[in-house]
Amino acid sequence: MSKILVTSALPYINGVPHLGHMVGCLLPSDTYARFMRMMGNEVLYICGTDEHGTTSEVGALKAGMDVQAYCDMNHARHAQTYKDFNLSFDFFGRTSTEQNKEMTYHIFEQLDKNGFIEERVIKQVYSIDDKMFLADRYITGTCPYCGYDKARGDQCENCTKVLEPTELLDARSSISGSKNLEVRETKHLFLSLPKIEGELAAWLKTKEPFWPDIAYTIAQKWLKEGLKERCITRDLKWGFPVNKPGYEDKVFYVWFDAPIGYIGITKQWADEKPAERSWKDWWQNPKEVRHVEFMGKDNVPYHSITFPATLLGTRENWTQVDFLKGMSYLTYEGGKFSKSEKRGIFAEDAVKEFPVDYWRYWLMANAPESSDAAFSWELFAGAVNKDLNGVLGNFVSRVLKMTSSKLGDKVPEGGEYTATEEELIKTLQGRINDYIAYMEAMEFRKAMAELRAIWVEGNNYISVTEPWTVIKTDEQRAKVILRVCINLIRIFAVLSAPIMPTAAQSMLDRLGVSLTGLKNFDVRTELSVLNGGEKFEVGEPLFERITPEKMTELKQKYGSTQ
Ligand code: MF3
Ligand code: ZN
Repeated sequence: MSKILVTSALPYINGVPHLGHMVGCLLPSDTYARFMRMMGNEVLYICGTDEHGTTSEVGALKAGMDVQAYCDMNHARHAQTYKDFNLSFDFFGRTSTEQNKEMTYHIFEQLDKNGFIEERVIKQVYSIDDKMFLADRYITGTCPYCGYDKARGDQCENCTKVLEPTELLDARSSISGSKNLEVRETKHLFLSLPKIEGELAAWLKTKEPFWPDIAYTIAQKWLKEGLKERCITRDLKWGFPVNKPGYEDKVFYVWFDAPIGYIGITKQWADEKPAERSWKDWWQNPKEVRHVEFMGKDNVPYHSITFPATLLGTRENWTQVDFLKGMSYLTYEGGKFSKSEKRGIFAEDAVKEFPVDYWRYWLMANAPESSDAAFSWELFAGAVNKDLNGVLGNFVSRVLKMTSSKLGDKVPEGGEYTATEEELIKTLQGRINDYIAYMEAMEFRKAMAELRAIWVEGNNYISVTEPWTVIKTDEQRAKVILRVCINLIRIFAVLSAPIMPTAAQSMLDRLGVSLTGLKNFDVRTELSVLNGGEKFEVGEPLFERITPEKMTELKQKYGSTQ
């Protein structure tokens, strides 16, 4: 048994998760955590809300709330959404806790002691009316290059030029609209990435054959361009006050304490049951723990460069990321998801429209792994109607109904396998080995294609063997066929459980059995778990078709270009 630490990028507290977030890190990490548990590993699956930074302050301001109360409220909302999506976190915590503060202070002190922290005076825009320094992207003005009048202080969205906020014409605060701005000098702390660069490059090299291209290429690109010092403090109120004399009125930058949050959240988890749990077993145990991280590609630089460098700079023995699964983006009906433009379906609405397994299946089957993926209602309904309802659901109800009506509500007994069953065992064993290998490698699209193919084998088997005809002349043979089919239902449930836990449970419940593992999965053995005589229930249809009327309604409600 190995120890596997699974983390999903910590969602921003003020964001409302949409399908893109779900498939970008949350669902793949959950699928993987479930799968690895079923493979017999000791898994710790950690996530939580990323709470600090200007966006939280601005969000609270807009909501007319105190920042802490605003975060409490949104944390509960996130937690509920992920619960509805059936994410199996061992712990869903927060980055704004005492535990994370302790961890952040400790890591900062080590970096400082080891000479990786530098002081610098920088110029920043101060808003007199807002009484705060403005982050670059909270300054709006006219782009000096193209004349676009809503350019942001960090970049012009229109001509994509990267800007300095001081270049903007007619600059104003995006928070209050005030033009009463001035440039002030302010002292900040910087992490000396150039000093750690060599060591980091050597560490990254050890990952080369293992990381998927998307992650490795991004990290290499950053290294090639050369690392710059990074400012790790901010002039804000909401955050951890910097634990260094002369900096008490500043806080750590959100990107400094957020990844440390994985560790802080693990400590939060451990503190709840100190007798059994230790955060150090996971985070200061690189030899025994394999750390697998899931994130959108925009997060890759932080998790492959800045955070590993931060941990290296402490000169302590931290568990570092072993495998980094970076994901691309999901588009909605050919465009971007946008809350403000009311385009796209958000996670909390998605679970109200359909059982969550429909989403889990579609999203994993279409995971944006090597390139962006496109969501459309047509594709979604196609997969639900064809794969889930047409193939899997249909197999389950057909087999159970037929057995029940012809032979009664017990698994049929007796008889021998023929060459057809031997062939089935061989084919399935091959496919299942591939499925397991793809899941282990986190190649989810390929894994889902294999899973679908495995369900199809069930349908092929029943079409070829025709138990409904055979039963008229050879009841014993029909019994063998239907017993094999019922065992296939159980096998399909076990294989599908990491992706569709509810549907899998419903299949198992009909058969009166509980979920078993996937380690050393031997088809011949698995096919005789139900040996004959066990009671079963036919149950309700597993899935429902999505009708054309429902499609029209959904497109109207959530926006569509088609
Ligand atoms: N909140 C960030 C985002 O949604 C992710 C932070 S991951 C962390 O892009 F590990 F740094 F917390
Ligand atoms: Zn411009």
